[in-house]
Amino acid sequence: MKSFAITEGIYWVGAIDWAVRDFHGYETPRGTSYNNYLIMDEEITLIDTVKHDFSDITIDNIKRIVDPAKIKNVIINHIENDHVTSLDRIMKLAPNATIYITGKGKKGLERFYDIANWDIRVVKTNDTIKIGKRTLIFIESAMLHWPDSMMTYCCEDKILFSQDAFGQHIASSDRFDDEYIAHASQAELDDAVIDYYANILMPFGPLIKAKIAEIQKLGLEIGMIAPDHGIIWRVNPQKVLSHYLEMADGKASLSAVIIYDTMWQSTALMANPIAEGIRDEGVHCEIIKLRATPMSGAIKKFWKSRGALVGVPTLNNIMYPTVAEFLTHLRGLRPKNRLVGAFGSYGWGGGAVKEAYEEFKRMGLESFEPGLQVLYRPSTEDEAACYNFGREFAKRILEYHTKF
Ligand code: FEO
Repeated sequence: MKSFAITEGIYWVGAIDWAVRDFHGYETPRGTSYNNYLIMDEEITLIDTVKHDFSDITIDNIKRIVDPAKIKNVIINHIENDHVTSLDRIMKLAPNATIYITGKGKKGLERFYDIANWDIRVVKTNDTIKIGKRTLIFIESAMLHWPDSMMTYCCEDKILFSQDAFGQHIASSDRFDDEYIAHASQAELDDAVIDYYANILMPFGPLIKAKIAEIQKLGLEIGMIAPDHGIIWRVNPQKVLSHYLEMADGKASLSAVIIYDTMWQSTALMANPIAEGIRDEGVHCEIIKLRATPMSGAIKKFWKSRGALVGVPTLNNIMYPTVAEFLTHLRGLRPKNRLVGAFGSYGWGGGAVKEAYEEFKRMGLESFEPGLQVLYRPSTEDEAACYNFGREFAKRILEYHTKF
């Protein structure tokens, strides 16, 4: 996709990755884009680069606007590979450009490149540069989502260049929220925001709230949010800010999800009556089989629901590996404000359900206990116990949800 003006004098010069379905292990069914931006002012300024595989595309897009040798400033808001690995090629074309980056960003950059001959200026929150008629303010945003992260605000155009924050993994020929909503829907855009948040930003809710408060305190009027992935927010950037604040507060729907795996269908046979019990208490319930669902899809389902039951068979006295993997992944995302429980089948010694509760404890999640175990295969009596387990779990969700 060719470069184009997002406002007068500021151009999107990025690349669309239509084919990516595995983004460092995270499923991206909609593909993604690597957004970077070129500001045509007295000092021509590039904000971020793109993933190395797409460096030809961004260079061509820049060349459509200006000779890259004329770039005076390169702002690196984030050094993750998908944004910084074209920097060497940009610096070959614009060897006299000055790079603006956080202190942690500079340290990280040294691990990617020999930076000895680059002019690098370390910046911190509230530092500004005047690039002609425009003033850019830097806002550090450490751990949103890497230590080096920062955002750049253009005062005159009221645009927040937010790097990963407020982004979505969407490949589309639409570049703006209103265009995408017209072709897809608001619900699909919201779902992409949730997907991104759940799998990348879930651990950082308190930092997100503090950063948004800090931006508001700086009195920066935000007319547009231009992230490094997906759709640019130009119609109602406040909407995505509010959405982030809700998610940072742990917002979830009054619903349950059963996330399970199974060896010989016994744990699967437990899931159905449990779901029936949950539904009969008036709580919506969905069932997710791990080996039939990408990990990032299961994480998103977990994040959207107030309550989750994990169905885990015992294998060699420990958790079935796919469920252990899911729980390890979940623990890294530091979930909060979710009610959890576990069930599963076993053959002789058992142990998986107990291990699942130990994981819940490590995560600091409120758990519904005791879990439910079935020997070999659920009998009619076991199915009734599963149904009742589901009903009791739903009652706890209804009570727990009132806290939020
Ligand atoms: Fe899109 Fe944290 O990189």
